[in-house]
Formats: sequence, C-alpha cells, structure tokens
Amino acid sequence: MAPSKSPDVTAIRGDLLYCTEDPAVAGPGRALEHVPDGLVVSQGGVITALGPAADLLATLPPGSPVAHYPGCLVAPGFVDAHVHYAQTEMIGTFGAQLLEWLNKTTFPAEQAFAERAHADAVARVFVEELLRNGTTSALVFCATYPASVDALFEAAQAENLRLIAGKTWMDRNAPAPLLDTAQKAYDDSKALIARWHGKGRALYAITPRFAPTSSPEQLEAAGALRREHPDTWLHTHVSENPQEVAWVQELFPERAGYLDVYDHYGLLGRRAVLAHGIYLKEKELTRCHETGTALAHCPTSNLFLGSGLFDVAVARDRRRPVKLGLGTDVGAGTSFSLLRTLDEACKVAQLRGRPLHPVLGFYLATLGGARALALDDRVGTLRVGHEADFVVLDPAATPLLALRAARAQSIVDVLFALITLGDDRAVRATWVAGRLAHERAT
Ligand code: GUN
Ligand code: ZN
Repeated sequence: MAPSKSPDVTAIRGDLLYCTEDPAVAGPGRALEHVPDGLVVSQGGVITALGPAADLLATLPPGSPVAHYPGCLVAPGFVDAHVHYAQTEMIGTFGAQLLEWLNKTTFPAEQAFAERAHADAVARVFVEELLRNGTTSALVFCATYPASVDALFEAAQAENLRLIAGKTWMDRNAPAPLLDTAQKAYDDSKALIARWHGKGRALYAITPRFAPTSSPEQLEAAGALRREHPDTWLHTHVSENPQEVAWVQELFPERAGYLDVYDHYGLLGRRAVLAHGIYLKEKELTRCHETGTALAHCPTSNLFLGSGLFDVAVARDRRRPVKLGLGTDVGAGTSFSLLRTLDEACKVAQLRGRPLHPVLGFYLATLGGARALALDDRVGTLRVGHEADFVVLDPAATPLLALRAARAQSIVDVLFALITLGDDRAVRATWVAGRLAHERAT
C-alpha cells in the first residue's frame, strides 16, 4: 500500500536496525539491535510500538496504512552534528586550507545571505538535501544575518524537522558586511531565542564562528547570553588547522590554549558542540570530558581542506571519553550524506592505525550523534516514546551495492557495504515525525 502523506497512525515495515548503547561500552554485538521483518508504529509523530511485524500487524487499527520496504533497513534518521546551510552552494569550490578558504570562498558566499530571498531559496535546497540523505536532525550554522535564521527555521518547519541552529557571531577578522558587534550579536540572538527556541521542533544555538572572529567582549557577551538561557546550545569550531591554532594563541596570549578561550568565557558544558578538535591536547580533551562538551568529527571537510586526521579512538579514550558526533560540515565538507561521511571517517581511522568498527560508525551517525547534541531523550534510536524520524536504507540501491549485498555475511557486513558504497541513492525514504518526507524516485 502506498504510504499516506500524513496519517495519524503510521506503520513502517522492514528490517529494523538501531543502536541501543555505545558499542565501545556494550560491545558491537550487544549495542546493535536487528529485527528482520520488523514493524515500527507511530502516532502523532511519536513511536508507539516496535517489534517483529508478525506480532504487531494484528494490533494495528483497521485500515492503518503500512509502508512496506522489503529488503530495506529501517533505521533512526541520521544526525548531522555540524553543518553550514549558508555554504550549500559553494560546496566543492577549489581552494586552499582553512584560513585562506574562509577569506576567498566562504565569507563572500555568506554575504549573499543579507538578501532574504537568497536565504529562503538556499534554505529550501538545504532542507531538501538533508531529507534526500536521510538526515532528520542537524546542528546548523546560519549566516550572521538574523533573517538567515528565520529563513532556515521556516524551511525546516515546513517539513517538521528537528534542527538546532543559530546566527553566526563575528565582530572582527572578517569582511565588514559580515560583522556585527558584541551588543548586536547579543541582542539579535536574544530576539531569535525568543522567536524560535522550542517553537515546534526548532531549538536555538548561540553560535560564535570561532575564537579568531570574536573579540573578547563578544565572547563575554556570548557567555552572558548562555547563562541567561542555559537550555540553549553553544556551537562553534575549535582546533581544526595548525595555523588557526597558532593564531588563536597570538590573539589570546593570556589563555592556556584554544579550548581555554571558550572555557574562560563560560562556553563549554552540556549542549556545547565544537566542530573538529583535531589538535586538542590531552588536557583539553580531559576538560571536554569533565564539562560534557561534545566534539563533531567532520572527516570529509578535514580531508578537503587538508586540515588533518582526527583520532576517534583518542577522543573516545575510555578513561575520559569525549562525547562525539559526526558532522558533514558542508561546504568544506564534500557531501550531505552521513554514509559518505562515515566512509571517510573509516579511512581516516585506518590512517590513524585504528579501524572504525561499522557498528561504532553507525552509532556515531545516530545515537552517538544524538547524545553529542543532547537530543538522545527524543531521537537517535528506535524506542517507544521517541520521535518517529527514520531513514530507510536500501542495501541493493545500485547494481554494485546489489552485487555486494548478495554475498554479505551478516547484518554488520551489509552495514559496512552501505557505508563504503552508499550515498543518497541508498536512501529509499526519509520519515520525519511519522510523515513521509522524502521518497527516492524509482
Ligand atoms: N572555522 C571557522 N569558520 C569555519 C567554517 O565556516 N568552516 C570550517 N570548516 N571551519 C571554520
Ligand atoms: Zn564548520
């Protein structure tokens, strides 16, 4: 039966696949749940039941539509822990490393967001790209202009997407049209929090771009705003590139290191998410652990900009594990797909000498990402009471995937083939709050 666009009760049938635990803690075998021919039922956008289809089909109200995806995996929607919507159209622009890339490519592209019509158009494409790639939750940088935030949240609300986003703060070291001041960034963000935080599925992140583009006064103002709104998120970048790290030390000579700048201004803690962290030192990782600060690993971006090789194993060291999610970091990142992102994460881990187990990768793209974003009480796994956000993955989406899937030895093998070969073509459908939001053209 064709799935209805907005029924109250929805049932999705396929092979359920989800993590219930951190595989490094529970072991990959125990962390991953696989229910062949399962059913997940939702009502009002929330999961009400899940289990074997043979048990649950008979419990559905008469006439309930069932979206049946034989041979496909029904998984929690992917979580993108760091992405820039205002960089959507500049993805894949040839250039140099971080600081030059920002000046030559990024800042000019973000200036176009002063125009609301441009922001609206790109926001719609961005939301569409998330859905085409099975991403149902994301932590998003907007441009400096408050209206660019309105554009994104309006586009996201049209699809009922769970987004955390905020206006970028910058009061130095960027072109004048992109700059605000400590006071203006504070005032604009406070107004945006009042307008958007907790409205539908929208959540707000206070978003200083990174230490070099904020004066001490602006970071102070960001800390003050965070104290006034402790239930908001804090989103920034840290220790991505060696020149950047050296520059921060020059700009803040009185601070012990890059992380200490954010620590000093009260910007770390639960719901603080820092992108990259490739060059964080042991003490800094310990401080992330102590404060509950999360990192977003963005391998396609790190390779594209030649930033370096993040070490997942070091970050997650069992003695002081740092919460970790995966970010696409478009437009330094080269794909909206968490599958492509995972593939690159696996390769980076190989170069670091410690392979990334596919179950751990899948965890980072779902429940681990939700934990990093402190959203795990509502998304990231399949559980009664959680929000009904799903990605339906087709292990035989392309001729090569089909060939590979036919000889797969186990569900973990299927998963690894999807990570290695999959992209938006492997996303058969995306469901958001119990509603079909994207279906791949067949
Ligand atoms: N550091 C500061 N701004 C940015 C950005 O837009 N992209 C990346 N990758 N790093 C940054
Ligand atoms: Zn970024």
